[in-house]
Amino acid sequence: GDEDAAHVVSLIRSIPGFPKEGIIFRDFMPVLADARGLDILIRALEAALPVPADRFDLVAGLEARGFLFGPALAARLGKGFVAVRKAGKLPPQTVGESYTLEYGQATIEIETDAVAPGQRVLVVDDLIATGGTAKAAADLIEKCGGEVAGFSFVMELEGLQGTALLSDYPLSTLVTMPA
Ligand code: PRP
Ligand code: MG
Repeated sequence: GDEDAAHVVSLIRSIPGFPKEGIIFRDFMPVLADARGLDILIRALEAALPVPADRFDLVAGLEARGFLFGPALAARLGKGFVAVRKAGKLPPQTVGESYTLEYGQATIEIETDAVAPGQRVLVVDDLIATGGTAKAAADLIEKCGGEVAGFSFVMELEGLQGTALLSDYPLSTLVTMPA
């Protein structure tokens, strides 16, 4: 209910000027550290799923913060979990997708057999800002023949058009905050 939502929001820590000037870092680690916060968070993600759980087969979490709650959500839903890693961490064979950051390029990877053709995947992460990371994950899953069933985020930064980049997909966010 409202009290639960307020409890989670009260635990999100905002750090102005990190990692650089002009950015407010939104830290959800204190939510995870709080027994009630963690329980509310996982239940809220389940309640807010962008599509019913029978419309996907797997949960994929984005390194690093998508790893912190993705497996808990997957286990609760009776699904498996796939880790979408930053480049260079996984042994061969991998498939990768590059995307543009504010400065330069980044690449994410999964093992080539992590997502089978036709498998439907729910992608989860702590936060959507520009949407670049999440869009790259969708492209990666589709490159493997998988289907992106939707996206679940804990937090969304307003005004960055991140969700516009993912307008082809069902999407849910628990908390919206100023960028
Ligand atoms: C952060 C956040 C999201 C991403 C969102 O991860 O956890 O994954 O940025 O940004 P975007 O929507 O503009 O792509 P980051 O890569 O900073 O580091 P992490 O490994 O701590 O998750
Ligand atoms: Mg991240």
